[in-house]
Amino acid sequence: MTARSGVWITLEGGDGSGKTTQAELLEKWLTDAGHTVLRTREPGGSEVGHLIRDIVLHHRGDIAPRAEALLYAADRAHHVATVVRPALERGEIVLQDRYLDSSVAYQGAGRVLDATEVRELSLWAAEGALPDLTLLLDLDAATARTRLDSADKPFDRLESEKAEFHTRVRESFLALAAAEPERFLVLDAAQAPEVIAAGIRARVAALV
Ligand code: TYD
Repeated sequence: MTARSGVWITLEGGDGSGKTTQAELLEKWLTDAGHTVLRTREPGGSEVGHLIRDIVLHHRGDIAPRAEALLYAADRAHHVATVVRPALERGEIVLQDRYLDSSVAYQGAGRVLDATEVRELSLWAAEGALPDLTLLLDLDAATARTRLDSADKPFDRLESEKAEFHTRVRESFLALAAAEPERFLVLDAAQAPEVIAAGIRARVAALV
């Protein structure tokens, strides 16, 4: 990856962990302080990615595990090359909902694919690019499920997976954070949104 002057922050966590709320609060805090922020997400942070998002989240019926992993990786390759890297080169702060840790946690949690291979695939797709900071919103699967149930929104393919799947996703995220403590900040997503936001701001202030 070429030299970059911006700051790249990703948000990770299970479905219903409150990533969107925290991204909104952080974006407001950063823009109020005069920073240029690009909010984006995977899958679906580019035009091509939008089409891929529709397949991976809304296709009725099975998608072969390797095909699913490649679809997320394809979205990632195009997103990093055409959206994230240019913004970082312009010196912006990129605030991104989900990145390769989601692939390792979700595609690896199905137990069919090897987590290391999934990570290697994503790193190849993104030419090795890793964020400066990854915020992990950690929440137990039961609380997350209660939140999703009360959100009154139809479930997508991954949200409808069974509870054990989501427990494995959570464990995988925590293992990733433990393996790279300098990149990750783990937050207890059961806390009040303002408390979580304050923890995030304290860490981000040191970066920007
Ligand atoms: P998200 O955009 O957070 O869903 P929503 O808009 O409904 O909150 O994520 C979509 C789903 O995609 C989520 O269940 C996790 C999954 N996912 C993967 O399985 N692998 C990946 O690499 C990524 C980025 C997401």
